[in-house]
Amino acid sequence: MFVITGATGNVGGELVRLLAAAGEQVTAVSRRPAPLPDGVRHSAGDLGDPASLKGAFDGAGALFLLVAGHEPHAVLEAARAGGIRRVVLLSSQGAGTRPGLYGHPAAFEQAVRESGLEWTILRPGDFASNALAWAEPIRAHRTAAAPFADVALPVIDPADIAEVASVVLREDGHAGRTYVLTGPQPVSPRERAAAIGAALGTEVRFVEQSREEARAQMLTFMPEQAVEGTLTILGTPTEEERQVSPDVERLLGRAPRTFASWAARNIAAFR
Ligand SMILES: NC(=O)c1ccc[n+]([C@@H]2O[C@H](COP(=O)([O-])OP(=O)(O)OC[C@H]3O[C@@H](n4cnc5c(N)ncnc54)[C@H](OP(=O)(O)O)[C@@H]3O)[C@@H](O)[C@H]2O)c1
Repeated sequence: MFVITGATGNVGGELVRLLAAAGEQVTAVSRRPAPLPDGVRHSAGDLGDPASLKGAFDGAGALFLLVAGHEPHAVLEAARAGGIRRVVLLSSQGAGTRPGLYGHPAAFEQAVRESGLEWTILRPGDFASNALAWAEPIRAHRTAAAPFADVALPVIDPADIAEVASVVLREDGHAGRTYVLTGPQPVSPRERAAAIGAALGTEVRFVEQSREEARAQMLTFMPEQAVEGTLTILGTPTEEERQVSPDVERLLGRAPRTFASWAARNIAAFR
């Protein structure tokens, strides 16, 4: 049985669907309930309150762990006590490229390595689904605003992260590995807005924000340290952060999905 945290999010939601469709038993953990596939058990729990997760692990063998809360050792201890033997951590590429700015995922990585469990770490770059921040302004006035208009990054489709997680959770041979997950080519914010426009069949106007404008907006839904780290990667990516990683293709046996494919599959959000 698999315990999936972040189970109602972009990655976790797709992972729960994939595992359930493969006939696996799944416990989906989130703080709030949400619609789940038939047969999936929901367990309300908060990663910020490890005691609230206790019942979630009973009878399970593998855990998909999100970076949330500040007590990864306690969460992993509760998992081990509940019978979990394998953990797959959804970290961030920044934990590898900029551990000083990405202290939160870096601390979770360290805890996972020290847990005594069989571990695998996934380090995705920027998600294609971050473009959902444009859903409302594109619906309302066909406009998308972002900083660093022409800085291209190989954004990853969350559905590919979920597929990789499903493979790594179910297959042997990934213990002690860290995988960097990216899309198939760098795409700039301006090009992402154009791809959504193409999928809509109408032009989407792109407005370049200053770093300060973007920072103020991001602070309304992200912690300050995460905002600084994200803006630094988006504005001045390192060579490694611009590069396409071979790991998705190696693990899935096919190229990662393009941003245009993500836009086409999620276009209802922008109509
Ligand atoms: N977006 C990016 O570009 C990016 C890049 C690299 C890594 N990441 C990592 O990927 C993670 C997942 O992204 P996503 O887009 O799938 O997330 P998302 O769509 O925002 O969903 C987050 C999920 O986690 C649950 N959750 C949040 N806080 C929780 C807590 N304290 N305890 C238990 N469950 C909690 C949410 O449900 P409830 O709110 O109901 O609990 C929801 O199911 C991010 O959190 C981040 O660490 C993101």
